[in-house]
This record gives sequence, C-alpha cells and structure tokens, in this order.
Amino acid sequence: MKLFAIFGDPVSHSRSPLMHNFLFKTLREDSCYTRVHLTDGSKLRETFFNLDLSGANITVPHKEAAYEACDEIRGFAKAIGVVNTIILEDGRLIGYNTDADGFMEAVKPFGKIQKVLILGAGGTAKALASRFLQDDVHVSVLNRSESRLDYFKELGLTCNSWDSFICEDYDLVVNTTSAGLKDDAYPAPKEMIEDILSHTSYAADAIYGKVTPFLQLTQEKGITYKDGADMLLYQGVLANHLFCNKRYDLKITAEIMQKSFAI
Ligand SMILES: NC(=O)c1ccc[n+]([C@@H]2O[C@H](COP(=O)([O-])OP(=O)(O)OC[C@H]3O[C@@H](n4cnc5c(N)ncnc54)[C@H](OP(=O)(O)O)[C@@H]3O)[C@@H](O)[C@H]2O)c1
Repeated sequence: MKLFAIFGDPVSHSRSPLMHNFLFKTLREDSCYTRVHLTDGSKLRETFFNLDLSGANITVPHKEAAYEACDEIRGFAKAIGVVNTIILEDGRLIGYNTDADGFMEAVKPFGKIQKVLILGAGGTAKALASRFLQDDVHVSVLNRSESRLDYFKELGLTCNSWDSFICEDYDLVVNTTSAGLKDDAYPAPKEMIEDILSHTSYAADAIYGKVTPFLQLTQEKGITYKDGADMLLYQGVLANHLFCNKRYDLKITAEIMQKSFAI
C-alpha cells in the first residue's frame, strides 16, 4: 500500500484526506492519505522519509520550506519557489505546484479577468500572481507587512502595504491571506476591505469550509463570489493525477473528488 499525507499547521481542517481517500476507494487504488501536523517546516523532508510516504501535499505555512526540501522542482513551481505537491521518484523528492492552475480552473466561470487585486503575499499569492501574469492579467498586491512584497516588486507589480494603498477598480479581488482561517480577522482593515469590495466585480477566498469575515462582507455587498472549495478540488485533482502516475482522466478524477464534498 502507498501512503500519502498533507503537511500543515494547522492541518486538522484540511479536506484533502477525504478527497484523496474517496478517490482511492472508488478506483480501488491500494493507497491511503493522512494528515501530519508539522510545526517546523525544516523537518518536512526527514518526516516524509520517516513515514515512508509516496507523495504529499503541503499547506500553510510550509510551501516555501517544501520547495527547499525537494531534490528537483518541475513545472510552474520552479518559477515561484512554492511547492504544494511532492512525489517520491526513485528515492528523490520531486516538487510541483498545483494551486495556481487549480485556482484558474475555479474562477473560469467569472469569464475574462483583466485586473486582479491579490490580498496577501505568501506562497499562494506568489503562485496566483505569477499565473495571472502568464495570462497578461494586470496584478496588484496588498499585504499587511511590507517585507514580503519584494518578490512581487521584482515582477513589476503594483505593490502596497496597508498604509500606502490606493483603491482602483478590479475585475476580481482574491483573499490569499490566512486571516479568517483560525480567527475572525479581515485580510486588511475593515474599511479598506469595504472600499475594495465597492470597486470589484467578483471576489474569491482561498479559505474553504467557512464563511470568513471577508466573504461575509462580500455577501452583504451582493458581489458574486467563491470560497476556496473549487480551488481545493482542482488543486487536488491535479495533485492526485501525479500521485496516480497520470493513470486517470482529469475529468473523471474531478467528478469523483467532487462527490467527496457531499460526505
Ligand atoms: N483552497 C485551497 O485549495 C487553498 C490552496 C492554497 C492555500 N489556501 C489557503 O490560503 C491561505 C494562505 O496560504 P499560504 O500558504 O499562502 O500562507 P502563507 O504563505 O503563510 O501566507 C500568509 C499570508 O497571510 C497574511 N496574513 C496572515 N494573517 C493575517 C492577518 N490576520 N491579517 C492580514 N494578513 C494576514 C500574511 O501576511 P504577513 O506577510 O503580513 O505575515 C501572508 O501574506 C491559507 O488560509 C490556506 O489555507 C487554500
């Protein structure tokens, strides 16, 4: 039997075990997926080998540590230094990023996005910003602390911390901060979020499984929005495709995993 896991802190909220195990069971794959609460990201590599894993997903706050833990990085993860999926291949750890493509699939129903505001400057923000740039979307980034904005400045993006932000019009605003995950915080001061929501057509939150304060305000403004459930689904579909050595069609994988949400 192959064993897979998700590493994170916190990790108890993660629906990934449910999604992957449902798929393994449905397709009679001899595999199992568990969660590992990891507080120290520098221990990721040794924990992976100690548990004899065949692959893993990595969530907040270890995606940059996961990049460092790998022997080789493939695809989009190389450009952003952020890994959310690891595969064991001939004793070596191979890192991938499936978050960005997962998110793009999730916001497809919103139609063409030309201007996006990303709230946050962590691993998810890096992945989404770089992926939007590939599609020539105008990207602005707003983060609590100035220090994390360097990566985005080097990409030539409009970057602000809270004290220098001036709101513009956006097609989409995305919350990629972990504000609202464990607490009732807004991704920026409430008045600033209200102003932003008055200047956007659509909103999305990477957090899933709860109505965050950000989404609560979005609802109150009557804006069309998505929480992170579809992003979770599609990043999981792409990760599972790698776990199962690309044996199953992506559409079938998505259909099966979607059913796990009803459990
Ligand atoms: N749906 C999905 O499939 C999916 C996929 C990926 C990620 N996510 C979610 O996305 C979120 C971010 O993940 P990540 O890996 O990018 O995290 P990360 O690298 O740790 O970055 C966290 C970001 O959140 C900001 N932040 C944290 N607490 C805040 C607060 N109280 N107020 C304002 N800003 C705050 C941080 O700002 P500072 O720089 O100021 O500290 C930083 O920019 C998590 O909630 C994760 O669960 C969901």
